[in-house]
Amino acid sequence: MSTRAVTKAVIPAAGLGTRFLPATKSQPKEMLPIVDKPAIQYVIEEAVRAGLTDILVVTGRGKRAIEDHFDRNFELEYYLEQQAKHDLLKEVQGTSEMADIHYIRQRDPLGLGHAVSVAREHVGDEPFAVLLGDDIMVDESQLLRSMIDVHARYGRSALALKRVPSDEISSYGCVEPEPVHDGLVQVRSIVEKPAVADAPSDLAVIGRYVFTPEIFEALDRIEPGAHGELQLTDAIALLLETQTVYGCVFETGRYDIGQKVDFLRANIELALDREDLGGDVAEILRRIEPNGVTDRIKSAQTGVLSQLMSTSRFARLVEQEAIDGDKAYRSEEHTSELQSPDHLVCRLLLEKK
Ligand code: UTP
Repeated sequence: MSTRAVTKAVIPAAGLGTRFLPATKSQPKEMLPIVDKPAIQYVIEEAVRAGLTDILVVTGRGKRAIEDHFDRNFELEYYLEQQAKHDLLKEVQGTSEMADIHYIRQRDPLGLGHAVSVAREHVGDEPFAVLLGDDIMVDESQLLRSMIDVHARYGRSALALKRVPSDEISSYGCVEPEPVHDGLVQVRSIVEKPAVADAPSDLAVIGRYVFTPEIFEALDRIEPGAHGELQLTDAIALLLETQTVYGCVFETGRYDIGQKVDFLRANIELALDREDLGGDVAEILRRIEPNGVTDRIKSAQTGVLSQLMSTSRFARLVEQEAIDGDKAYRSEEHTSELQSPDHLVCRLLLEKK
């Protein structure tokens, strides 16, 4: 039984980020800012706070910005020093000193299982944590600490689990759990992206894992699975044949910033929590309360309508409508024409004028 302390973290960040295009066409999604800090910095800070001192980031093509972010930037440091911007200088230097950060390339994004397997040599024969680079946890590292504690106690792997609405389960790995005690389950089986009807529970595997090194042998044996990718879930299923795997159930603090809506939620909620920004952001939200939202929708429509106006066909229609006004178009025979989408758009535009 492996009882070595967990000191290493592997952060897969080599995915293509297709759910966040076009923003991710030439920049890593892991570098998208949540308020004013790249997502991956939250992830590394979480690992460091949980006591992990050796960080391996799995990168790929187009991910250089990640390495640059955690490197020194002498020019910027010199400038900030000259300008006596000491707080910013400390912040900038802090990102390059926060941990021992290593990088390895996953040559092709063949799936999360493959991304973890390229860490094998760096990790060696030790337990290690995996933190997905596009999942951020705002919980003072409580979840990760509890998973490391489970490993220390049982010498076995632990997965982070969250209950999700049943119609969302097919986006995740899903486990069949057996309760151990409050917040801890033993994983009986695991399946990647099950159909709603086949899901063994509503417990989804979320981007935090603590693995025994035997996961690498399981990773060697997997074949392409869901979406044609080498799935980490399939390796966990193989690991279950020889070792117990635990699950730590948590409820709050997670944002999947690879999803646009969750990315926006993270920005709003974390900005609200900030002393320097919270008041202003709350004021913006207050202004778009129900009535304000209606105003927004109207002004968004005006934007769309103005664009339409710039096309000559619509400009002509609007002009005609303005000239003829009620007299020509109120007659019976024009009623259906007046209901046509083009004419409704014209009417809306005229109302806006
Ligand atoms: P995702 O499936 O969320 O990332 O993988 P993706 O493939 O970039 O996303 P979409 O679906 O195209 O938008 C979770 C994490 O695993 C990494 C990703 O960078 C992300 O942090 N990953 C995924 C890899 O490192 N390599 C892979 O081959 C796939």
